[in-house]
Amino acid sequence: MDLYDDAFLYDLVHGPIAGAEIVSFLLDYCKVYGSPVLELASGTGSILLPIAEAGIEIRGIDLSENMLQACRRKAAERGIRAKVTKGDIRDFSLGHRYPLIIIIGNSFQHLNSLPEISAFFESVKRHLEPDGRLLIEVFNPYIPLLNREMGIRYVVGEFDGHILTEDVNYDQATQVTNLNWHFLHRTSGRERSLSFSMRQFFPQEFDELISLHGFEIEDKFGDFDRSPFVSGSPAQLVVAKVRNN
Ligand SMILES: C[S@@+](CC[C@H](N)C(=O)[O-])C[C@H]1O[C@@H](n2cnc3c(N)ncnc32)[C@H](O)[C@@H]1O
Repeated sequence: MDLYDDAFLYDLVHGPIAGAEIVSFLLDYCKVYGSPVLELASGTGSILLPIAEAGIEIRGIDLSENMLQACRRKAAERGIRAKVTKGDIRDFSLGHRYPLIIIIGNSFQHLNSLPEISAFFESVKRHLEPDGRLLIEVFNPYIPLLNREMGIRYVVGEFDGHILTEDVNYDQATQVTNLNWHFLHRTSGRERSLSFSMRQFFPQEFDELISLHGFEIEDKFGDFDRSPFVSGSPAQLVVAKVRNN
C-alpha cells in the first residue's frame, strides 16, 4: 500500500500541522508576494491550514483523494474551509496565475523522471505571475542514509504507540530511493506496511535543473531558519523566479 493511502499514519509521523519556523518562513513570503498562494502537493494541509488561518488566501492541489479528504476534515475541525482539489503536479491547468507557488515537504522528490520534472516546471510557468516566486524544498541527499543495507529494517522511532521501522533501497542509476515503512502497533501487535519512493536531487544537479527550465535561483537556504545552504544542511530550500531573457 502507498504511504498516501493512510493519511492517519502519515500525520502521525510528520505531525498534523507544520512547525512554527516553517510557517513563519512561508508567511513572510506570502506577505511580500501576496495572495492567493498555490501549494502543490498540499497533502493533509499541514502547511496550507496554518497559512489559511493566518488570513492568507491559499489553494492546494494533490493527487491523493485520501490526503485531500484528511485535509478537508482537519480544516472543518479547525473551523475553516480548505480550498483543495485533485490535481497532478506533473500537468495542471487551474486557469489562474499566482504570485507565489510553493512545493514544500519534499513533494518535488516524487518527480522521478526528467520528462516529469520538465512538465512540472512548464505547468508552474503557466501559473506564475510575471514577477512571481516559486519555493521548492527538497532534502539534501546524505550519502550514509542512501547507502544503508538493503533488506535490513532500521528503527525510525515510536509515534503514539506505533513503532516505525524502515527498509530502504537506493538505486544509484535512477537516483530513486524506494522506502517501505512498517508500523507495528505496540498493544495490538498488528503491523501495517506502506511504500513510497523519492528521487534524490544532488545540490549542483538541482540548481542546474532549475536553471535549465528557465528559472533563476534568487536564494538558496539550508533550512527554514534561513541559514545559507552548506554541505551539512538538512534541506535545499530554493526561491526561484522565471528568468527574463
Ligand atoms: C510529503 S507529502 C507533502 C504534503 C504537504 N506538502 C505537507 O507538507 O504536509 C507529498 C504529497 O505529494 C502528493 N503527490 C505525490 N505525487 C503527486 C503528484 N504527481 N501530483 C500531486 N500530488 C502528488 C502526495 O499525495 C502527498 O500528499
